[in-house]
This record gives sequence, C-alpha cells and structure tokens, in this order.
Amino acid sequence: MQTIDVTVIDQEKTAVAHAAAARVEHRTIVGLGSGSTALKLVDALGARVADGLEFVAVATSEQTAERARRWDIPLIAGAVPPHIDLVIDGADEFDGGLRLIKGGGGMLLREKIVASAAERMLVMVDHTKRVDVLGAFPLPVEVVPMARARVKHHLRRLKLAPELRRGADGKPFVTDEGNVIIDCHIGCIETPDALAGTLSAIPGVVEHGLFLDLADEVLMAVGETIEVFTRG
Ligand code: A5P
Repeated sequence: MQTIDVTVIDQEKTAVAHAAAARVEHRTIVGLGSGSTALKLVDALGARVADGLEFVAVATSEQTAERARRWDIPLIAGAVPPHIDLVIDGADEFDGGLRLIKGGGGMLLREKIVASAAERMLVMVDHTKRVDVLGAFPLPVEVVPMARARVKHHLRRLKLAPELRRGADGKPFVTDEGNVIIDCHIGCIETPDALAGTLSAIPGVVEHGLFLDLADEVLMAVGETIEVFTRG
C-alpha cells in the first residue's frame, strides 16, 4: 500500500498557497476558499496585506472568515456580490479536464456560490489530488435536514453508497447553512455531467461537490515544484 508523508503534503500545501497568494492583485475582490490549504492562503495573504496589498475578500466558510479577521483582511459580509474577480480554493480531487470534487470540509455550498460568481477560479492542491477519473474521494451531497432519509434512500437506489457524515461527537455533521452532508462512496465517476444533473434533480438536495466547469487553472505542488494546469 502507498504511504503518504503528511509532512511533505503539509509543505506542498504551504508552497502552493504562497504561489496562489502571489496571484492576488491590488484593489480586487477575491473569494477565499475553505480547508487547510485555503487557511494557509489566508495566512500568506495576511502577510501581503501587512506589506500594503489592498483587496476585499468574500469568505466561503465561517472558519475562513475567522482566519481572515485575524489578519485584518476586509470581508464583504452578507450576500455574495454578483461579481468577484478571482476565487482561490482547494480541492479534494481534480482530473485532466480540471473537473473537481470539493466539499471534504463540508463547505461546498458557499464554495460553489462564490466560484460561480467569480470571473476566474484558481485551485491549489498538493500532489495527491490529481486523478485520472473522479470518484475515489467520497462525493459530498448537501441535503436539507428534513429530507435526509428520503435523499439517502434515493441515493442508495442509484447505487451511490451513501453515508450520512457525522462529527467527532457522533452526531450528524451540520454545515454553515444548517444542512447535513451525505457522502457517496462511488469509486469511479464515469459520467460526471450526468451524475451532476441527476443529483441536482433530487428534491432536498441543496448542492453537490462536483465542480465541473468552474476551475480555470490548477496549481499543484509536487515537492518544491509548482505544476500549472490550465483549461485546454
Ligand atoms: C472544503 O469544503 C473543501 O472543498 C476543501 O477545499 C477541500 O476539502 C480541500 O481541503 P484541503 O485543502 O484541506 O485538502
């Protein structure tokens, strides 16, 4: 079995977060993603703000907003603005078509809303996130709590191996928007577009973690090298 060196992964996340932070331009509106790489991005941007960079941010989670506040990064509160210049976010998987699975941290709804408002989406990943076919990472589906049993039943009938996500306390994980997450252990998603349509049509499903036409560029750290993938 392949072993993964967590120290190397952490160093790669730091390196790619710094490379992404260098892309932020003066006086722009920037969407800040969520997850461990995104928190490193916020830290790297905080250092740039201290050096005089001016921008306003839209956070995709309470966790990211809290980190941005620590660095005095100005945040747009409330409704997401209709136009964001750039969103920078992590991902759980990406394939050769820059299609993503996101939502490992449970923030996929706000992440997708912000990404859809952004002119460009830049994705930052460590080398373990590149896949030939999406689906080894469980696909998160965000669901209105009262619909969870019905949606899970539907997903099971579709043979998507659904499992309600639980927190460390054993209780259902609750998103920033008060919904629950059902993770689908699919293994191999042969037709992501069709699956995205199927999931979106299920009553009670708020959003799913397939980000299919959103990423413009992926920065992937491989050791100390940053590899760049652009939409072909
Ligand atoms: C959060 O909901 C996710 O979409 C994250 O962007 C994704 O899980 C990547 O997280 P890491 O940067 O922690 O690997």
